[in-house]
Amino acid sequence: MSRLPLICANWKMNYTASEATRFAEIFLSEMAAARNALDAQVEVAIAPPHPVLDRLGGALAGSGIQLAAQNLHADESGAFTGEVSLAMLIDLGCRYALIGHSERRQLFGEGNSDVAAKALRLQGSALRPILCVGETLDERERDTTLQVVGTQILEVLDVADGLSDELVVAYEPTWAIGTGRTATPDMAQEVHAAIRKVLSDRLGEAGGGRIRILYGGSVKPSNAGDLLSQPDVDGALVGGASLDPEAFARIALACLEMS
Ligand code: 13P
Repeated sequence: MSRLPLICANWKMNYTASEATRFAEIFLSEMAAARNALDAQVEVAIAPPHPVLDRLGGALAGSGIQLAAQNLHADESGAFTGEVSLAMLIDLGCRYALIGHSERRQLFGEGNSDVAAKALRLQGSALRPILCVGETLDERERDTTLQVVGTQILEVLDVADGLSDELVVAYEPTWAIGTGRTATPDMAQEVHAAIRKVLSDRLGEAGGGRIRILYGGSVKPSNAGDLLSQPDVDGALVGGASLDPEAFARIALACLEMS
């Protein structure tokens, strides 16, 4: 089953629009030689903070690099001060939206039902969900990783039951996020294979086989190749290392070399 790998940057709450424009110049020049191959063999996306989407989109115009949002509100519109809607993100040219990132779950109290409502809003739209799942250190030590991750996925699919291969799943063990600790390639593959089984049991063998599963958590140029070489690792969601245009380009190029 061939799946187009996806390398997505998650800038979190970093970079102004001016800094993002400078990033784009350096990143595009690093990627210039690989541009044609990139379009066909690896998809690259960047999720900047919402106020930066417009300017970054302009700086990336024509490059084939996709825009992603870090979050959205589940409602269509209305009295939700400080929130951002699906239509706003589509209008700015976004192609993907992260939902259920562990920082949203841990710092902003989002539960599986909130994430499911966002997935339902995205279902059938032009914006594809990147559903983030992952266990805490405590959950891993209690050997409940597969159960936790399975529940995070199934509670979304129970509500957004029309999602199919537009769905992207990102496995991000929270103990590996921003800590410098990375899951070993074997650990990542074990969970990715289990996620694929959950997806295939629910959506059928072919459906589950088409969904891309990204790994996230301290991905850097030095470990990207080993992680991406695993059969069920279809790309990466990159935090800290994506703030450095040269490092992010090296990760995208490592992916290109594998494809
Ligand atoms: P780091 O790559 O900084 O560990 O962050 C991972 C992440 O949370 C991406 O969404």
